[in-house]
Amino acid sequence: MKVYTNKEDIRKAIAKFKSDGKHLGLVPTMGALHEGHLDLVKKACKENDKVAVTIFVNPTQFNNAEDLEKYPRTLDTDLKALEALDTDNIMVYAPEVDDIYEGQTTSESFDFDGLEHEMEGKFRPGHFNGVGTVVKHLFKIIEPERAYFGEKDFQQLAIIKKMVKKEALPVKVIACPIFREPSGLAMSSRNLRLTPEHKKAAPFIYKTLKTVRSKFGTESAQNISAWVQEEFAKQPLLELEYFVIADTKTLKPIEQIEPQKAYRAFIAVYADDIRLIDNIALN
Ligand code: PAJ
Repeated sequence: MKVYTNKEDIRKAIAKFKSDGKHLGLVPTMGALHEGHLDLVKKACKENDKVAVTIFVNPTQFNNAEDLEKYPRTLDTDLKALEALDTDNIMVYAPEVDDIYEGQTTSESFDFDGLEHEMEGKFRPGHFNGVGTVVKHLFKIIEPERAYFGEKDFQQLAIIKKMVKKEALPVKVIACPIFREPSGLAMSSRNLRLTPEHKKAAPFIYKTLKTVRSKFGTESAQNISAWVQEEFAKQPLLELEYFVIADTKTLKPIEQIEPQKAYRAFIAVYADDIRLIDNIALN
């Protein structure tokens, strides 16, 4: 498995095998790889001749300097986890900030047709401009045919799809289901930072989402939201930031259920200073 830190080098390698008519997939990550990431990589390996996995903690998508500083960086372990997949189809791009940003660590300003103003957009100003910027850079460097994103970050996935459509970028975005710990907790690089007590408390998030799914359709969205607030108020180790039932296309909060539309419940919770997000399809 070859690891590149320089975009010129990986571009040369890519140009070489593309000239042989080979198909290329991309899995962008910020590292601290877990089974959820590896599931994306495995799917990409099945569907492409070669897969570029990028490992880059993107500074422009962090609206909080402390969060950026504390974000886990485990490159050696990440490379071992990818090696253990035992495929020679993977290439890794793990650059320094300047290799991507060339001294200008700023975000482009995007219009995602309002998707960026909902949920995460309300609590993480500038986050999606940072995500759009880095993903666009990565698409330009790697030029993949397919790019794999997890439904764990459903709003991010929607925003990337929107960017690809609006800018007519030549890449197919593939959505991958949420990978969970046996406890139900959605896998996340941030889980590494949970204390044992918080790790024990955190599966309550998914448990609540499953109950929400069973209530959906029989109780109003307002009642369900009020119930979720009450349930979290009883949890000493978890603090609810938001709970929203939204239309999966517009990500706007539900007003009343329209049978032809698809809905999801979205949640963000703090376990101490660690922010956890999750979501579930409701119909
Ligand atoms: P990161 O959080 O490392 O996630 C990389 C990819 O893995 C994303 O597409 C994310 O949705 C997916 N993923 C993470 N946890 C998952 C889980 N439990 N199940 C399924 N998929 C999961 O998302 C980012 O990095 C960054 O914003 C990035 C797109 C790389 C841009 O910097």
